[in-house]
Amino acid sequence: MRTVSVNGLRIAYATAGAGSPAVCLVHGTGGSTNVWAHQLDGLADVARTVAVDLPGHGGSDGTIPKRIEDAAAIVAAFLDAIGISRVVIGGHSMGGAIAQQFALAYPDRVEGLVLVGTGARLRVLPRLLDLLASDSERGVDLLMSLAIGAEAPAELRTALHRATADNPPGVVLGDLQACDVFDVMSRIATVNVPTLAICGAEDRLTPPKYSRFFGERIAGARVVVVPGAGHYVQVEKPRETTAAIREFVAGLGRRAPRE
Ligand code: COA
Repeated sequence: MRTVSVNGLRIAYATAGAGSPAVCLVHGTGGSTNVWAHQLDGLADVARTVAVDLPGHGGSDGTIPKRIEDAAAIVAAFLDAIGISRVVIGGHSMGGAIAQQFALAYPDRVEGLVLVGTGARLRVLPRLLDLLASDSERGVDLLMSLAIGAEAPAELRTALHRATADNPPGVVLGDLQACDVFDVMSRIATVNVPTLAICGAEDRLTPPKYSRFFGERIAGARVVVVPGAGHYVQVEKPRETTAAIREFVAGLGRRAPRE
């Protein structure tokens, strides 16, 4: 892991590959760069890929802002700090919300958008928010029971559960509160860059309907629904997810510029 100072905060990130395009991957609720391990490896020969630990997550200091807009601004400052101006921005779940916001706020910096298990609106079950506030252990149990697909092997289930439960108090709740007020459904059609949306067919937190919405609203967006995967599609079905992102990234150089 490397670290860089962003607005006075130590931000941790993982990197693989070199050259262009640059791909930046942003994790979701209670996550870290670890959720992109397979993609970092699998994209190394086609892109310079960086995966960032958001403030208060993984190896990064600070706390995540309450608003997705502010989190997107931190990602922009992080990319400035490591010398990346234009990027394929991607994210999972809450990270996908940050990626959408990044594309809306900094269109000139975006070469492509990769949306993994996410949606243009991310309302959260009130029961889940209540439980996380009153009994975070049971809240994480409920969250992970909804998040991980039925086909995921037991060791993967245990590892994802532990990684989420190990967050400092309040982090998971804070992330989901930021998701709960995120809503760009009426603005997402203004995104005018090549877009790939991927989700698990069995995703109960951000169901395939949410990814298909991207396909309907963003001109030319490609939607991939991966059978047998839940919300952690890039971890549960890493080969399929990485292959879809590889194909998308490799195709960017071949596309004619959009009007
Ligand atoms: N993309 C496309 N459609 C969306 C959407 C998205 N990102 N988000 C909501 N919608 C649709 C819903 O399907 C619904 O359509 P319908 O009226 O045809 O059924 C409508 O917009 C309103 O839905 P929503 O904004 O979610 O409000 P709600 O009061 O119907 O439901 C919840 C609230 C929390 C029950 C619901 O959002 C849910 O089950 N969420 C998934 C579970 C969760 O907590 N996910 C965490 C996300 S990080």
